[in-house]
Amino acid sequence: MIFRQLFDRESSTYSYLLAERPGGEALLIDPVLENTNTYVRLIEELGLELVLAVDTHIHADHVTALGALRDRTDCASAMGEMTKAECVSVRFREGEKLCVDNLHLDILYTPGHTDDSYSFLLPDRVFTGDTLLIRGTGRTDFQNGDAAAQYDSLFGKLLTLPEDTLVFPAHDYNGMTVSTIGEEKRHNPRLQAADKQAYVDLMNGLKLDDPRLMDVAVPANRSCGLKTAA
Ligand SMILES: [Fe+2]
Repeated sequence: MIFRQLFDRESSTYSYLLAERPGGEALLIDPVLENTNTYVRLIEELGLELVLAVDTHIHADHVTALGALRDRTDCASAMGEMTKAECVSVRFREGEKLCVDNLHLDILYTPGHTDDSYSFLLPDRVFTGDTLLIRGTGRTDFQNGDAAAQYDSLFGKLLTLPEDTLVFPAHDYNGMTVSTIGEEKRHNPRLQAADKQAYVDLMNGLKLDDPRLMDVAVPANRSCGLKTAA
C-alpha cells in the first residue's frame, strides 16, 4: 500500500493519500484547498491516478480541495449521505466501502462533532476525522454537534475496534501524528468520563472560540470549496 500523511500548517489538518500499488488508483482524504498543487504534484510523482477525493465531514477551519481536485484531475468527490454539501458527485453511507483498486475502506457513520461525520476503516488503521483526535475529541458545539451522539460513536463504534488499530485523525495541534485505539482508551482524557452524561457535561462545559475561518469555510465547503461566502 502507498500511504502518505500530509500536514497543513495553517489549520493543523492532516490529509491522507492512499493507493494499493504504484501506478494505480488513489484516494485522498480531507484535502485542503491551498495545498492542491502539492497533492497534484505528489500524485504525479508517484505515478498515481486520483479517482476519489473525500471529506470526513464539512470542515469549519479550512476550505476543502474537493472541487479544485475534481477540476484538476476529474476525480469523483465524495461525502456522506448526511452532508449538506450540494456539490459532491458521490454520497456514501455506513456499511458501504470506498474503493481504489483492491483497497477497500469500510465506512462508519460517527456523528457527534457534526451530524455529517464519518470514519474510514482499513484492517490495520482508521481515519477518524474529528470524531476521535489524539488525546482529544472534536468539539460538539456547532454544525449540529451532539456530545451524546459523539459518545455513542466513540464507545459504540471506534473504541470497539482492535486495540492495535492505528488512529489517524483529521487534525493534531500538538505534534502527534498517529495513535492506536488502545492508547487512546487508556490515555485520552476525554475518554475517561465515567458515563455518557459525564461526557456530555464535559463537552458542554468547554468554552471554545469559533474557528477563525468558520464563517468562510462552512459555506465554501458546502460547494466543495469552489465558491467563497460573501
Ligand atoms: Fe471538523
